[in-house]
Amino acid sequence: MGSDEFLPLFETRRAKGRVLYRLLVVSVFVGICLIWIHRVSHIPRKGEDGRWGWIGLLGAELWFGLYWLLTQAHRWNPVYRCTFKDRLSQRHEKDLPKVDIFVCTADPVIEPPVMVINTILSVMAYDYPPEKLSVYLSDDGGSDLTYYALREASHFAKHWLPFCKKFKVEPRSPAAYFNSSDDPLDANQSKELVLIKKLYEEMESRIENETKLGRIPEEAHSKHTGFSQWDSYSSQRDHATILQIIIDGRDTNATDKDGFVLPTLVYLAREKRPQHHHNFKAGAMNALIRVSSEISNAPIILNVDCDMYSNNSYSVRDALCFFMDEEKGHEVAFVQFPQNFKNVTRNDLYDAFLRVSSELEFHGLDGCGGPLYTGTGCFHRRDILCGRKFSKEYKGDWRSVKDIKREESVLEFEEKLKGLASSTYDKNTQWGKEMGLLYGCPVEDVITGLSIQCRGWKSVYFNPLRNAFLGVAPNTLPDILVQHKRWSEGDLQIFFSRYSPAWYAYGKINLVLQMGYSAYCLWAPNSLATLYYSVIPSLYLLRGIPLFPQNSSPWFIPFAYVITAKHICGLAEFLWCGGTILGWWNSQRMWLYKRTSSYLFAFMDTILKLLGFAESGFVISAKIADQDVSQRYEKEIMEFGTSTPMFTILSTLALINLVCFVEVLIEALMGKGIMRVYETMSLQFVLCGILVLINLPLYQALFLRKDKGKLPSSIAAKSIVLALFACVGFTLLY
Ligand SMILES: *[C@@H]1O[C@H](CO)[C@@H](O)[C@H](O)[C@H]1NC(C)=O
Ligand SMILES: *[C@@H]1O[C@H](CO)[C@@H](O)[C@H](O)[C@H]1NC(C)=O
Ligand SMILES: *[C@@H]1O[C@H](CO)[C@@H](O)[C@H](O)[C@H]1NC(C)=O
Repeated sequence: MGSDEFLPLFETRRAKGRVLYRLLVVSVFVGICLIWIHRVSHIPRKGEDGRWGWIGLLGAELWFGLYWLLTQAHRWNPVYRCTFKDRLSQRHEKDLPKVDIFVCTADPVIEPPVMVINTILSVMAYDYPPEKLSVYLSDDGGSDLTYYALREASHFAKHWLPFCKKFKVEPRSPAAYFNSSDDPLDANQSKELVLIKKLYEEMESRIENETKLGRIPEEAHSKHTGFSQWDSYSSQRDHATILQIIIDGRDTNATDKDGFVLPTLVYLAREKRPQHHHNFKAGAMNALIRVSSEISNAPIILNVDCDMYSNNSYSVRDALCFFMDEEKGHEVAFVQFPQNFKNVTRNDLYDAFLRVSSELEFHGLDGCGGPLYTGTGCFHRRDILCGRKFSKEYKGDWRSVKDIKREESVLEFEEKLKGLASSTYDKNTQWGKEMGLLYGCPVEDVITGLSIQCRGWKSVYFNPLRNAFLGVAPNTLPDILVQHKRWSEGDLQIFFSRYSPAWYAYGKINLVLQMGYSAYCLWAPNSLATLYYSVIPSLYLLRGIPLFPQNSSPWFIPFAYVITAKHICGLAEFLWCGGTILGWWNSQRMWLYKRTSSYLFAFMDTILKLLGFAESGFVISAKIADQDVSQRYEKEIMEFGTSTPMFTILSTLALINLVCFVEVLIEALMGKGIMRVYETMSLQFVLCGILVLINLPLYQALFLRKDKGKLPSSIAAKSIVLALFACVGFTLLY
């Protein structure tokens, strides 16, 4: 106490080397301007070779340059946060607020119940007063298997939570803990470890057996009345609300094996009816917000995806350091943690880690108003999530939140609550518009975060040394491309929505933050410029028409400078964020693949939808892979396997470049052309060569590999025909 009272609960540091970086940015921008000037002043005259190719490149370079400017928002002023949890507990241990934790799952096959309960157990075991924690599972799959698993987990928790507390184990997801190689500290622990591991394995095998059978044993059915709620269940899309308070925090009998209180645990499958739109995850979250407001009504809400277990039992306290800071805490609406993944190989073949985003760009956004809300690993203030507007006087006063009185029995109480999760509850209300998560957008999280920031609130990005949440990254190329299609499509929809960061947010949030949001929202349109850049210069190379300045021309310098500076900078950034050189190379490949497939489809779908044609669906990416696939993943071999139009595009592009490169190389080596290529078309040749190099794994998958992860022969045939058609057609027509 005493002077301590005025010490802040968190600290913000700015990144070093900003001045140097900004000088570099200015120099690159000068280079970009020179490139634009060159393009505009040297357009080939009508009838001259390469006029249209040139004009197209001008368009692409204009786009790239402007987009690059937007991405500087992510790098302009990165900040880093650190928290003082000891000060928090000194001052506030007695009056820590309640915290509600929402875990969302949607499908018992894609998201196996064992994985779900590991996440649940890891958050139940947070280092936090258990009477102040409530954990809610929203099961949009409405699966009795998940419910069964949750019941099992509630029994196991009675042993697991005391074990965690006694030995301070980390991480607190049982599966992750038993897998980690940490040796027990002493004989006493090792004895208990054996016991608890056995308990866990029995539970796991029971759940897995039921999952395999696909039904619940009679015995469990008759023992718990809860299962009768499935009697009227007809399908995942058509069932009444299923709600059960599995551990009731008020019940004095609900204790662990040492007699301590357990966190409240609630299962909810909201009502689904085919005739009412369920609004995906946003709908599920809003149902949880309403139901929890009657049960625990905690002022702080954490939401995590069911595949992201807590790897750090202090995260709640970390987050509270921001909310409860006396000086700045009242402006903070949400605290976002990074999404980290445990199953990423060393060189991160698919750039699934989004390393630069989480280690750099989000820190940059944090420096100008706050990061995006990314839908998992995020702590919110309940009242702000429910639509509260910013006011200077606001001091989220935890103590004033009324404790809910409950007179009726638990059964009656549950019946009463079911109405809050009905499929029609939010019709004609502000839910999904002003309150809760917003409806109608595939990336409900980002648009919700933006709307909160537009109401005047700030957000905080906290990236602790020991990762707070660990998930499973997609480990096949189709999965990751589909995921990025959904993200980029949703983000582009935000750009055109009423919450557009470009128009609506103007004057409401910091200009730099507006740019930062726009850079994410404009992922999809990048596809056009990238597609153009990766095909047209190569085809012109084949025809022998130069589209870039000669080596001897002074205009060559800005091109060379911008390209080198940008890539060296990118590489340095990647290494600084903890990546490897090969990882950077892989990320460049993914950069190309995402832009020419995911983003392209996302862009076309969005435009079609704007024009009123198609309706976009929400695809969950598969989280568990079969044995072969994981083996190839471990060896960092690209996984194609399926036949999707995205792959037709990718392999056609790769083949066009291969044909152009090989053809020009042969001609140059055989004839006198080599000097001409060197002098007039070196940039074009290098560009084509790099495209070939980066596509090496794809050629392997097309022609050399025999395993199941290769490109299907139908795709190979299609793309060979298309590529030859393009090359021959271009040379003939031109
Ligand atoms: C699960 O099934 C396996 C094999 O079918 C069996 O050996 C095991 O005893 C079962 N486990 C439980 C807990 O019923
Ligand atoms: C994750 O990695 C571990 C070890 O590398 C492996 O045993 C496990 O099967 C992987 N899980 C998935 C879902 O790929
Ligand atoms: C997760 O937690 C464990 C145990 O505390 C720690 O050793 C590990 O480094 C953490 N994982 C990551 C990726 O930070």
